[in-house]
Amino acid sequence: MTKIDVLLGLQWGDEGKGKIVDVLTPGYDVIARFQGGPNAGHTLEFNGMKHVLHIIPSGIFHQDKINLIGNGVLIEPRIFQQEIKDLEAKGVDARRNLYISQKAHLILPSHRMMDAANEQSKGKAKIGSTLKGIGPAYTDKIARTGLRVGDTLASDFAERYARLKNQHLMMARAMDYDVAQFRIDGMTLEEYEQVWMDSLATLKSFRFVASEYFVNRCLQEGKRVLAEGAQAMMLDIDFGTYPFVTSSNTITAGVCTGLGVAPSAIGKVMGITKAYCTRVGAGPFPTQLDDETGKRLCEVGHEYGATTGRPRRCGWIDLPALRYACMINGVTELYVTKPDVMNDFDTVSMCTAYEIDGRTTDEIPFEYNTLAIKPLLEPFAGWKQSLAGVESYDALPQALKDYLAAIERQTGVPIAAVSISPDRKDVLFKQAVGS
Ligand code: GDP
Ligand code: IMO
Ligand code: MG
Repeated sequence: MTKIDVLLGLQWGDEGKGKIVDVLTPGYDVIARFQGGPNAGHTLEFNGMKHVLHIIPSGIFHQDKINLIGNGVLIEPRIFQQEIKDLEAKGVDARRNLYISQKAHLILPSHRMMDAANEQSKGKAKIGSTLKGIGPAYTDKIARTGLRVGDTLASDFAERYARLKNQHLMMARAMDYDVAQFRIDGMTLEEYEQVWMDSLATLKSFRFVASEYFVNRCLQEGKRVLAEGAQAMMLDIDFGTYPFVTSSNTITAGVCTGLGVAPSAIGKVMGITKAYCTRVGAGPFPTQLDDETGKRLCEVGHEYGATTGRPRRCGWIDLPALRYACMINGVTELYVTKPDVMNDFDTVSMCTAYEIDGRTTDEIPFEYNTLAIKPLLEPFAGWKQSLAGVESYDALPQALKDYLAAIERQTGVPIAAVSISPDRKDVLFKQAVGS
């Protein structure tokens, strides 16, 4: 019996999860997504090619590995169809190695409309949702009114769909939301509904599985399974910066509910963090830099959302948040991405604690969203050199190694590897793989 390894984001998303999953996939037999949906955008780069995945796991380019969409994931069939087409255009036939849980919930066009209606009703307090229908679809899951992938095969699917859609229409009208002006990709709700219905044929051409049995059988047979997180710790529905969060458990515990594995089956927990920090959408971000340095991180790091294209807010790495993430997730090793973005910086800083009302703390307070939080910064000398062509961890500049050692010291978690470019080939493991 093997254990399931977990890889997840420790900040506010976009840490480079997709890239690291792609790099680690050769060491696994199965890559499984356990939560989230098309709000995710996971970027892979290799052989001069760039690809962004949303619902499909990041092991898909390794055609000899099984990729699994677990029960905890949300599927928007039209977006799924588009992803399949994009893969086909790159010569990848996902039908060979992609399985889908019968229990994964569907995002309906009217869920996406409700996302827009909810955001509009919040006015200035809006969350900055990706508007993919995540919140409303998980709401229906919890309300026990949702529709699942397996339901698409039922003879009464059309009636159940219509009932749910009508509920959404009633809610939208009660919120004074103008349904007639709603558009997805320039289409009205009715127009989009047509293409959504058509896209069900693509979804149904895939293998629907009882994924909880599938995963547990794999573990019993000694296969190696990697659970791929989406979003990240600080967007978790329970422990993130609520209400500026997503609507799923993005944490290690989400693997148990999103794939049907026992807590005792969890193996390594790999946490991904950027060497700095970003956030897209609204919500608190104590180390955000509203100055030239923040702009520089954004420009050099190409910090624009992989799903929405929105500019990401940028700032220094936040160790109180990172320690919290390591605690909640039981992180056993860190992967640090994008230090190369700071190659030209004279100084790089890390926030080691917060000052709140004159008190120093390293805990995340309940009133995180409303308190004035001053990050206490520790400056480090920059390494002032390109990392291009560096081929081993040991060969990294000493100033960067000092910075990385401070992250290890501050979190108490060892670094497994550092990523120094978007490309698959540029991940430097601290110890040779397998040693
Ligand atoms: P994910 O959502 O966690 O998979 O991350 P995204 O794909 O949304 O965002 C990460 C971005 O950083 C992508 O554009 C990646 O190509 C890029 N990236 C990943 N690792 C590195 C790195 O080490 N250096 C640089 N410069 N870019 C990286
Ligand atoms: P990956 O997997 C970064 C953010 C949105 C918004 C909030 C709620 O690529 O790291 P939602 O659409 O879930 O209702 O949005 O969460 N958000 C992400 N930010 N990366 C993501 O995914 C995100 N998925 C959602 O910007 O603030
Ligand atoms: Mg992303």
